Amino acid sequence: MFDFSPSAGAPKSEIYRDLREAALAITDGESDGVANMANVAALIWQFLPDLNWAGFYRAIGDELVLGPFVGKPACIRIPFGRGVCGTAAATGATQLVRDVHAFPGHIACDGASASELVVPVVVDGRLVAVIDLDSPIPARFDDEDAMGIEALASAIAGVLTS
Ligand code: SME
Repeated sequence: MFDFSPSAGAPKSEIYRDLREAALAITDGESDGVANMANVAALIWQFLPDLNWAGFYRAIGDELVLGPFVGKPACIRIPFGRGVCGTAAATGATQLVRDVHAFPGHIACDGASASELVVPVVVDGRLVAVIDLDSPIPARFDDEDAMGIEALASAIAGVLTS
């Protein structure tokens, strides 16, 4: 059993540092990328409040394919350039969307989603996945969340590929 306990009410910087350390600990020595994505998705869900979806889409060919996640069943394939995830994949840039209804082409997998954060995961200059977080709260994510998930993505990128 793994027992990671996020501290309630801690500053975001501390939550993201603890999340990153937990992710590095739980993936240490494990070479299966899908297993590692599954545990990291579960950790994100455990550490970050007010989410309704947290997980991975894997970059396969020129589309994103659903990976391990926590939340409602989601759309399986997203072409690069489509929706928030596909835009992150096509541009290589984090997408911080305060109001998903104002994002052209947003793909609504869960009607409850109001805001979204998508961060590319890159290994040796190659996109391998995106981390996708959805929240039912408008403007749930800010720059600190973006930086926290970007730091998580670069810390664990190397254990998500096989
Ligand atoms: N909203 C995303 C689709 C994935 S779900 O949120 C899980 C998008 O627009 O790409």
